[in-house]
Amino acid sequence: MKFFIDTADVAEIRDLAATGLVDGITTNPSLVAKTGRDFIEVLSEICEIVPGPISAEVAAVETEAMLAEGRRLASVAGNVVVKVPLTPDGLKACRALSDEGIGVNVTLCFSAAQAILAAKAGATYISPFVGRLDDIASDGLALISDIVEIYECYPDFTTEVLVASVRHPMHVVDAAKLGAHVATVPPNVLRAMFKHPLTDRGLEAFLADWAKTGQSIVGDGEPAALSPAAEERRRA
Ligand code: G3P
Repeated sequence: MKFFIDTADVAEIRDLAATGLVDGITTNPSLVAKTGRDFIEVLSEICEIVPGPISAEVAAVETEAMLAEGRRLASVAGNVVVKVPLTPDGLKACRALSDEGIGVNVTLCFSAAQAILAAKAGATYISPFVGRLDDIASDGLALISDIVEIYECYPDFTTEVLVASVRHPMHVVDAAKLGAHVATVPPNVLRAMFKHPLTDRGLEAFLADWAKTGQSIVGDGEPAALSPAAEERRRA
């Protein structure tokens, strides 16, 4: 499963990219507005920090204007993926941009019917919003299950399911169980995925017991030479 971070906050992206677990970034107009910064500037910075796909959303609603904006966004960096809303104009723009070799993330998906249209329009990613469905007592994960099941029936559908509007780690776990390709998570959700009280407690106990031995693994601090097998693995 690929992890994208759902934010335009450059400081957060830098911090989380250091975990080595970040495969891409998704932004949207609200997340960009929250930064209070110039969109193109922020996008360019993000594309330099994370080499993976960076989703940047158009603000236009008519196809021709979406195409102009999409081409502009794609010109910022080679890893930009253009985000368009799941509307008739958005899918026309998706088809055209995709045919030009520009990656497209079709966003604001709330039904399996919409997801079928996005795949037929050549979307690189479809973004079903699980959290916003759950927020209105509708089953967001059921939508993911339907989309994955439908897409698996058609080998010519190359669109990846990018689970969006993630509210907590269990959205990620349940989406992974369903075989979704990508989860885009807010920074706090990725951080929450690391946490378990038993891990904290167990580590504390290990360290306390180790301290009692009075030993040091690295001894005088000289880096230990790798074993031949480890050296072999390092070179591979
Ligand atoms: O950025 C797309 C999506 O993840 C945003 O969802 O519900 O957190 O605004 P939401």
